[in-house]
Order: sequence, then C-alpha cells, then structure tokens
Amino acid sequence: MALPQTLVSELDELVTHYPEARAALIPALHRCQEELGGWISPETMEDMAAYFDLEPVEVYGVVTFYPMFRTSPPGRHVVSVCHNVSCDLRGAREILARVCEVTGAEKGATSPDGKFTVTTVECQGACTSAPMFDLDGTYHEDLSLEDVDRILGGVEA
Ligand code: FES
Repeated sequence: MALPQTLVSELDELVTHYPEARAALIPALHRCQEELGGWISPETMEDMAAYFDLEPVEVYGVVTFYPMFRTSPPGRHVVSVCHNVSCDLRGAREILARVCEVTGAEKGATSPDGKFTVTTVECQGACTSAPMFDLDGTYHEDLSLEDVDRILGGVEA
C-alpha cells in the first residue's frame, strides 16, 4: 500500500465512527483527494479497495459517480463555480464565462499553463449571497464580473 502512514492512521480512526468500515469510503476518498494532489489516482483506488476490502471496480464506481472526485490531476488552483438555481438566477452563467475567460480554462478543464482548473458545482449553501465560487476552499460571494477579475487576477502562480 502506497498511502502515507499518517493518512492510514487517520483512516483507522475515521472508520471507528461508522457501523461498518466501508461506510467511511466517501469521507476517506475526500481525505485522499485532499492529501494526494487533489485527485484520486488508479493506484489510490487500488489502495482504498485493499484498505476497505472491496474490489477496485467498486471504488472506481464511487469515484466516477460523484463529480466532487477528480480522476486526473487538477491545476494549481481550483475554481468551483456554483451553477445551481439561486446562483444561476443571479448571474452564475456570466460569472462562469468570465472565470473561463480570465483563467484561460474551459469549464471542466485545466488552463494550458496548468494554473487553474474550472469546474461547476451544485449548491454550496451560500444562496443568500449568490452568485459565488469556491477558490481553493475559500468562498467568494455576491460576485460581480469585476470581483472575478480582481480575485483571479490576484492569484499567485
Ligand atoms: S445555489 Fe449557489 S450557493 Fe446555493
């Protein structure tokens, strides 16, 4: 198993919170994605299958079913634009178009320079300050097109 020992120790503690170890698969995959470069590699899927006593295809099925898991490495910064109802009604389409323009990344892809990955996400629970996006885990809300330029223009390489 190639998982770092610190991560394995964390998983060992995580599974104690569930009636069956395999019920912790999704939060465990989140931790793997956070710790291992922002994506779930085929090797990580095999490691998780071994850890949870599952077939690799079962882990693959979970990883590819949920859009929050990535199966390829992301750019150095990830912009996740909410496109659910409240944000859509308050201009999310224009925000997304501007994000793509400023970053040089297509929706669902990484910019040619590898700096940004742009994705769309469902409601992030910030509807009262829509439209919004998440940049590397930090919410930016009540966005205008000028805000997009300012925020993304200030991101270091
Ligand atoms: S719809 Fe965008 S945060 Fe809820």
